[in-house]
Amino acid sequence: MKPVGISDELLIDSRELGCTVDARVVALGGSLLSADSDEIHGWIKGLALILERRDSEGSATAIVVGGGAAARRGIDAASSLTSDRDALDRIGIAATRLNASMIREGLSGAGVRVSEIAPLSIEEAVASMGNGVVVMGGTVPGHTTDCVAIELAIGMNAESCLIATNVSHVYSSDPSTDSEATKIMRMSHEELRAIVGEASEHKAGGRTVVDPVGAMHAREFNLNLDVVDGKDLAALESALSGLPFNGTSIRGE
Ligand code: UTP
Repeated sequence: MKPVGISDELLIDSRELGCTVDARVVALGGSLLSADSDEIHGWIKGLALILERRDSEGSATAIVVGGGAAARRGIDAASSLTSDRDALDRIGIAATRLNASMIREGLSGAGVRVSEIAPLSIEEAVASMGNGVVVMGGTVPGHTTDCVAIELAIGMNAESCLIATNVSHVYSSDPSTDSEATKIMRMSHEELRAIVGEASEHKAGGRTVVDPVGAMHAREFNLNLDVVDGKDLAALESALSGLPFNGTSIRGE
């Protein structure tokens, strides 16, 4: 089964994008934007240096930004007015696009060559690759931006999809409720499935370390996933460069 929005024509090779090295997609958790503005400023400048380096090497990068607190607040507020799951998802999508605008403008202000198009779909994102860093938010109801990033990585035949979130690793169980939870350095797609659950378990604003719908697509397409703490820019850059990093690698069996 192909991910939603992925047609055969879209399953292109990254070499067709005009990049000589590699193509990677980053899912940037919206929770990373809840720091104070000085911290965000420093973090975006650090991220910009990494992306500029990749661009100068001819590598392609796409960033899919999450909705964070804005999405959760909007979905919580509207839940008392409607139980329509797609409607709640659309509120989440609007928040992801707001955050994506913030990241796009911030990176552009820091000197990164950023694609002018703000894609609304996987098709648009694939079509705009090769013209600087692509920055986008969500697409359609039914999943989170992790899943969008995974679909895009599959669509552009990327080396890997990086899930930059607010924890450094996938844990054996929820560390906020289980003191016995341990960090996992390397795991299989099946082991990830046992932790995040089935794709049918999507719920607007739901929270797992990797979106179960995205995890299912990564499993089916054997896409490498790397999970890092997005604030740890050294880990993020190492993972993007295919080097050992502080985080969890999810690979085929
Ligand atoms: P996020 O991608 O922000 O989910 O989407 P998240 O797991 O809360 O991630 P963080 O906290 O930003 O890291 C927020 C909500 O927006 C809707 C879903 O309801 C999701 O839970 N959404 C987002 C969609 O329906 N489709 C999309 O493509 C993206």
